[in-house]
Amino acid sequence: MTVETARGGRITIHFDPARCVHSRNCVLGNPQVFVPNAEGEWLHPDAAPAEEVEAIVRSCPSGALTFARADGADERAPEVNTVRVRENGPLAFHAECTVAGETQPFRATLCRCGLSRNKPFCDNRHHEGGFAATGEPAEQASQPLAARNGALAIEPTRDGPLHVTGNLEVVSGTGRTVNRVTETWLCRCGHSNNKPYCDGSHRKAGFRAEGT
Ligand code: SF4
Ligand code: FES
Repeated sequence: MTVETARGGRITIHFDPARCVHSRNCVLGNPQVFVPNAEGEWLHPDAAPAEEVEAIVRSCPSGALTFARADGADERAPEVNTVRVRENGPLAFHAECTVAGETQPFRATLCRCGLSRNKPFCDNRHHEGGFAATGEPAEQASQPLAARNGALAIEPTRDGPLHVTGNLEVVSGTGRTVNRVTETWLCRCGHSNNKPYCDGSHRKAGFRAEGT
């Protein structure tokens, strides 16, 4: 799948369909700019003020949408690195992050059901796979981090969890902070009994995935 580009006078929108998790923030945010079910061109960057288009692009959880402003104002890293635990769905990172060493557009949705064919990214197969997992995990005792942003490295391990290093707040689907960490291992096989964390169940489940 190739990246689509729609150039506007004040802002250009890029869309990487391979990353889209169909959260529909874009088409619900402004259906004149992001036209649902369009035959032909569906991105119309001049149909709204550039600030509005930018805000909708930044609300795209997967990073499928990115932008380039004509005035050079680029997307900035968030003040707080977060991973949101989506009920029955992926892990949604918002951070200055790399995945397997590759720089991400500050947003990335990573598979935690084990079914994606685009691992480590989510490809929405959790729906058809009937993945069931709470978005409201129990809180863990944690201390405020000395810094809440900065570089975050997400390393998918071979046949195992995501190894994450850097400042990170683990946030529930409703926005509750459930943990604050500088290193953690997050389940991506779908079998942990301690989700969103890995508990070693991937070995018994025979989980197979590329990684480091
Ligand atoms: S993941 Fe991004 S591009 Fe895909 S539907 Fe959601 S907001 Fe739109
Ligand atoms: S990756 Fe799921 S239990 Fe380790």
